Amino acid sequence: MTQKNTTLKNKSPLDGKRLLLIIGGGIAAYKCLDLIRRLREKGMTVRVILTRSGAEFVTPLSISSLSGEKVYTDLFSLTDEAEMGHIRLSREADLVLVAPATANMMAKMAAGLADNLATTALLATDKPVMIAPSMNSRMWEHAASRRNLQQLKEDGVHIIPPASGELACGEEGTGRLAEVEDMVGAIAFFFEPSGALTDKHILITAGPTYEAIDPVRYMANRSSGKQGYAIARALADLGAKVTLISGPTNLAAPAGLQTIPVESAAEMLAACQNALPADVAICVAAVADWRVSNCAGQKIKKQDGALPALQLTENPDILKILSTDKVNRPELVIGFAAETENIAENAQAKRTKKGCDWIVANDVSTKDGPSVMGGDYNKVILFRGKDREDWPAGHKDEIAKNLAQKIAEFYA
Ligand code: C5P
Repeated sequence: MTQKNTTLKNKSPLDGKRLLLIIGGGIAAYKCLDLIRRLREKGMTVRVILTRSGAEFVTPLSISSLSGEKVYTDLFSLTDEAEMGHIRLSREADLVLVAPATANMMAKMAAGLADNLATTALLATDKPVMIAPSMNSRMWEHAASRRNLQQLKEDGVHIIPPASGELACGEEGTGRLAEVEDMVGAIAFFFEPSGALTDKHILITAGPTYEAIDPVRYMANRSSGKQGYAIARALADLGAKVTLISGPTNLAAPAGLQTIPVESAAEMLAACQNALPADVAICVAAVADWRVSNCAGQKIKKQDGALPALQLTENPDILKILSTDKVNRPELVIGFAAETENIAENAQAKRTKKGCDWIVANDVSTKDGPSVMGGDYNKVILFRGKDREDWPAGHKDEIAKNLAQKIAEFYA
């Protein structure tokens, strides 16, 4: 018994897991040889796709000697395809890692190109994908790379950030492939998150709700879901078990957490109540205030200028219901308040009225800076009881990380 416990305790989270490693064309490709060795020592199976440019830096022979597996290249033959099709190759893995992920590879991934074995496998996979970028610092900072990185994050791709320091080209800056131990750490964390919020179940609502008028028409609020999704990702990165309850958005369900799609406020409430108990609830969704109580079963026809008599009824206030739940109230309930004027006063009044613990107020008026609704940037004030913190304007991902950090501090 004792022996069994000890064995279980010492088992690496990588033991028995399968990695599909895509080696891109960068000088740092040599680090992948050590990476393969280290992952195999921890019990991981590593299968490799070596891109044509990757093969300029490391050889299939050295890779297969270390991985103990056949190496797949762009010269993948029809015989290979019959043995192990690219679809199977991309799916017989628990995780796909691209390292080094070059600027070119990131651009192809962001655009969804499939022009060689590696990109085809990346498009065909149904498994989580992680990238370890590596490039010259100017290339890393280029607006196009920023855009591609953002797109990949939104697509749910996990990022192992590049390190700073001297680059292979002799310049200094950010763009160096993460060290092998950092890549091993990131992969282990992916399989067994041990962050500040491990064991915490966090419920997040995001996006708009659609309230049907008839089978083809609906009423909705403007909301892209970007802020809620970014918060969900940031919390999952800290090890939380996240349930994201999302109204209709154009965003991909983030990897590594549970996304429950809903349409109306009533469905969103039911999904929230179903997901309880939770330690934390964060209501980011722009829930429609009203729904049509006389929703038509058939498409309403236009009738010579006569207007349809729509009857509205108020939607349930999910934030208030969660905050006042007598049995299952989450320990920490956080609301959002989108305001256009008297931001602080209105937000504080809302916090008291709804009974939540914290409220994040954001200015959605477009008078200074880029638009918050649908945009990538936000400027918020966090109220915790009487305590007020004004945060500098930032990318929604940054705001999300700050909020996740505050929640981690709450539990620390
Ligand atoms: O009342 P108002 O819509 O301004 O409140 C905003 C906050 O309340 C947000 O946190 C939002 O997610 C939440 N809310 C809700 N259910 C509603 C209306 C708002 O959860 N029906």
